[in-house]
Amino acid sequence: MNNHYSSTAKLLHWFIATAILGLIVIGFTMTNMELSPEKLQYYSWHKWAGVSVFLLTLARLTWRLLRPAPSLPNTMNKNLQLLAHLGHFALYFLCVAIPLSGWLMSSAKGVQTVWFGIWPIPDLLSKDKELGNQLRDLHETLNWIFIAFISTHILAALKHHFVDKDGILIRMLPSFAFSKKRNQSD
Ligand code: HEM
Repeated sequence: MNNHYSSTAKLLHWFIATAILGLIVIGFTMTNMELSPEKLQYYSWHKWAGVSVFLLTLARLTWRLLRPAPSLPNTMNKNLQLLAHLGHFALYFLCVAIPLSGWLMSSAKGVQTVWFGIWPIPDLLSKDKELGNQLRDLHETLNWIFIAFISTHILAALKHHFVDKDGILIRMLPSFAFSKKRNQSD
């Protein structure tokens, strides 16, 4: 059995993870800025990059259905395995729900998203200020929950690597990041 992630799964994992961290930093920065051309520029980048993460997450989920993730080691008891699966499910759910709530919010506020600043993306809702404000609150709340899950996810990966030494982190790292020969079928 192949116990490593495919190169495509690794690429999508690290690309999406980097984009999400950037989106969180830009998101909190732009909302605290005074109105200025820079603020509007940040909003535009945040929105089209967020829609891109949404589409990439759908691609990642499709890939995961085609190439299921390797199983967890037997050294983890059943309860921990269940917890890990629930955590991963929550992360996938938030990777879809957060950009979708942003896209819906922008649509309800009547501010269209323009991909790469060039291609206008269709609005998902017609203009509704009150709904726009509710979706903004939802977008912010989901982000705080996301930050809690991402922090736990990173701490768990570090514990597996440095305390349990069970190879869980290694199997998601790019091949060039470690020298050990390993059995990979992709
Ligand atoms: C994974 C994707 C995304 C992440 C991690 C993310 C993260 C964030 C964060 C951390 C904030 C600051 C929260 C606050 O203080 O209000 C924010 C605000 C915002 N986001 Fe996102 N976002 C994502 C996708 C999107 C998308 C796809 C759109 C729209 C197409 C969008 C539109 C906005 C807008 C308009 C705000 C400002 C809300 C306000 O007016 O206060 N976001 N986002």
